[in-house]
Amino acid sequence: MAADPTGSLVARIEHEAAGFERFVLGITGSPGSGKTTLASAIVERIRERTPGGAAHLPMDGFHLANATLDRLGIRDRKGAIDTFDGWGFIALLDRVRRETDHVVYAPSFRREVDEPVAGEIAIAPAARVIVVEGNYLLADADPWNRVRSLLDAAWFCEVAADVREERLVARHTRHGRSLEAATAWARGVDGANARLIEQTARRADARISGVTWEM
Ligand SMILES: Nc1ncnc2c1ncn2[C@@H]1O[C@H](COP(=O)(O)OP(=O)(O)OP(=O)(O)O)[C@@H](O)[C@H]1O
Ligand SMILES: [Mg+2]
Repeated sequence: MAADPTGSLVARIEHEAAGFERFVLGITGSPGSGKTTLASAIVERIRERTPGGAAHLPMDGFHLANATLDRLGIRDRKGAIDTFDGWGFIALLDRVRRETDHVVYAPSFRREVDEPVAGEIAIAPAARVIVVEGNYLLADADPWNRVRSLLDAAWFCEVAADVREERLVARHTRHGRSLEAATAWARGVDGANARLIEQTARRADARISGVTWEM
């Protein structure tokens, strides 16, 4: 394992971002592969050197509200591709690329309340590297197939299925599910999403281990 995997990844980003006013990196991968953890580490490391120089933009903020999922009858598979506002996400990505002279606000997703919260993420003009992360950045279905052209680079984060499942069960139980319900969700809903997402890995520029963070 590299002595400082985060440092190596940041060096790669800085090399690729040379000459860009704003560089948008997408990190995708299956549920529980470690996208959010990886994106946070990268952003934190860039900010240590350049305060405000990077921003973390999770696709998760574009979860539809639970009331909307209920109305559509799809709450039982929350996290599937059609339970997100894909068009809203694309519009925001486009704004993040164009609007570099003022703050662009983005929604976050709060696991405690299991709902998105508008305007919690502030992307300031100083944020030169934007790390976007989420499940469906490289998916085939419309409108998700438009995301790739809004990214300057795309990485696929991967871990073995059993590791992912263990992580997801731990997280679902932490957020109040019984072990049985957590395991069923990790294998059922998360598992179906993972199968779709894994097929999108071939569109990534690089694959990265969600365990060691090596490319
Ligand atoms: N490199 C790692 N080593 C050990 N545990 C990790 C690592 N990366 C992530 N985890 C743990 O695995 C779980 C899932 O990680 P994370 O939330 O980053 O995944 P994700 O890909 O963003 O998942 P989701 O698609 O559900 O948002 C978390 O509990 C996290 O602490
Ligand atoms: Mg995540």
